[in-house]
Amino acid sequence: MSDYLNDVIKGLKAKDKYLLSRYFYDDIGDGLFQEIMTLDEYYLSRAEKEIFENHAEAICAEFPQQAFRMAELGAGDGTKTRFLLQAALEAKLDFHYHPIDISANVLDILSANLKKWVPELKTEGLAQEYFEALRGLAKMEGKPLVVLFLGSNIGNFRRDNVDVFMAELSNSLRPGDLFLLGVDKKKDPNRILAAYNDSRGVTAAFNFNSLRRINRELGGSFDLSKFKFYNSYDPHSGESRSFLISLVKQDVYIEAAKQSFHFEAHEAIHTETSRKYGSADLKDLAQKHGFKIRTEFTDSENLYRDQIWEKL
Ligand SMILES: C[S@@+](CC[C@H](N)C(=O)[O-])C[C@H]1O[C@@H](n2cnc3c(N)ncnc32)[C@H](O)[C@@H]1O
Repeated sequence: MSDYLNDVIKGLKAKDKYLLSRYFYDDIGDGLFQEIMTLDEYYLSRAEKEIFENHAEAICAEFPQQAFRMAELGAGDGTKTRFLLQAALEAKLDFHYHPIDISANVLDILSANLKKWVPELKTEGLAQEYFEALRGLAKMEGKPLVVLFLGSNIGNFRRDNVDVFMAELSNSLRPGDLFLLGVDKKKDPNRILAAYNDSRGVTAAFNFNSLRRINRELGGSFDLSKFKFYNSYDPHSGESRSFLISLVKQDVYIEAAKQSFHFEAHEAIHTETSRKYGSADLKDLAQKHGFKIRTEFTDSENLYRDQIWEKL
């Protein structure tokens, strides 16, 4: 049984149903996410792009001066990383760039982009899960590692499971290795709610793609008109949470699973968490997992930050 099918069955059988957000990203999901990044309401990409446009040189000044490897977890199409890569090449840093993304499709798009933007870059993409790829890189010869984790991807981990991710990351790094973390700040809840429920419905379509993908790839029989998209924000945990809610009592058959899944009316499938972090949250997280926060950069509206952490 594929990991995908296994995860779908596990999620739809859980008491609180869920679908893992990593499966948003097939060819259609990649395209929808690229559209989300251009939306007025989705300030995150604009803010991080501004940080890199203004501070790429200062960020690169923190990177190792000897030969190193740069790995990017969940690299996407590289729209923002481009500015860092260009600055690093201009600073004559000696590095290999390894974009890691579970979507082979987006890595193809990225590879074509990099050929246009930075043809001289030494690069090798890895279409794998974050840690499968990172473990492989960590085993390579002893060059220092700089790990990029941008776009507030860390927000996809809930408050109660980010430690599992951080412990894996920390174990994959050696003292002196760097972690460049781009992360959304806590702010006016209405601004956050709008970012994940835009007026054109692109984010809703992105979430619905998780049902469409089950229909396409696993022979699912989800009738999308029998679900609605809903999102919420909890200012205490900083968690924005997205759901697809069953409008009626229904059973949905999935051919590859050879079984039906029952939904009560108003029963929810949790589809995505996008957690926001305050300064103290990040300080605690860094300390708990053996990192020192070296420096941070923010955008002109103070919505978002990129921090450089050093493994102790
Ligand atoms: C929200 S997009 C962000 C892309 C990029 N970092 C940016 O800031 O624009 C998340 C990306 O991470 C990838 N991804 C999500 N979960 C992953 C996982 N567990 N392992 C590898 N890639 C993953 C997705 O395929 C997608 O391209």
